[in-house]
Amino acid sequence: KQKVILDVDTGIDDALGIMLAVKSGRFDILGITTVNGNVSLDKGTENTLKVLEFLGVEKEIPVIKGADRPLLRPNFFEHRVHGEDGLGGALRDVTVQTQPATGFAPDFLIENILRHDGEVTLIMTAPLTNLALALRKCPELVRHVNEVIVMGGVVKDVGNVTPTAEYNIFVDPEAARVVFRAGFPRFTLVGLDVTRQALLTEEHIRLLGDTRIGQYVKTSTADYMKRYFERNGVAACAMHDPLAVGVALQKDLVTTRKLFVDVETRSELCDGQTVCDFQNRLSQQPNMDVCLDVDAKAFLDLFIRTLQS
Ligand code: BDR
Ligand code: CA
Repeated sequence: KQKVILDVDTGIDDALGIMLAVKSGRFDILGITTVNGNVSLDKGTENTLKVLEFLGVEKEIPVIKGADRPLLRPNFFEHRVHGEDGLGGALRDVTVQTQPATGFAPDFLIENILRHDGEVTLIMTAPLTNLALALRKCPELVRHVNEVIVMGGVVKDVGNVTPTAEYNIFVDPEAARVVFRAGFPRFTLVGLDVTRQALLTEEHIRLLGDTRIGQYVKTSTADYMKRYFERNGVAACAMHDPLAVGVALQKDLVTTRKLFVDVETRSELCDGQTVCDFQNRLSQQPNMDVCLDVDAKAFLDLFIRTLQS
């Protein structure tokens, strides 16, 4: 099984990404690290534990808390999108029974990547603060990771927080810059250009049926879909974070191109923009595989089939 660590700010779509990863049965999940983002670090950690308890795997997968704020900037929560509890109210009345593991997420990343040299894939679906802190402490980490897959950024389409910036990068652009510039040999960016195509519709929810997980998905995405409709005029919601997990499961779901991407950090209007050098005007070596297209149907089929299993 592929060894993975998920880094999350659980969030409605993070939760669905965790469900896809666990239920696929294809990963040895070494741990799930949490970070400030959609909700506070404590809330996101609690939500992650709730999701693992819901799946009955809370004893097998440790949850390790990380950074409670971006490197330099204030927090920027997304309760508007993810609801007061961060899960669209789906597990609101559940009291969490499990405790997070001891330790600090950046150290957990370093220890596990070095222990399983060259074997660990990182699936990052949140602001990149934890990985940036790990790289500051241990820059040689880049040579010991199997692969990094990041849900974040947007290279052709528009942003989802500002006109130009995607949320995970916008929240901690300095951290994203550290990560993008670190020199990972295998790095995939799963941005809004493709996640906006990975749309969960009511039809998909019907397919999940009146099961426990079907109920969960229906409740957790109800308001999320309304928000998505208000912004995008489409009766659906984007499976941003699950698609990053999908790419870890099946690379050919996406079409990628090797490109140089950097992050804007000093602009009045464009902070957090992922600037992608399509014409190599900056004469830099490509630093990542950027997802430009996705077989959305194949992904949604995989997602639904896996959740049903
Ligand atoms: C990303 O932002 C968060 O709100 C979601 O969980 C996802 O990781 C999408 O831009
Ligand atoms: Ca997320």
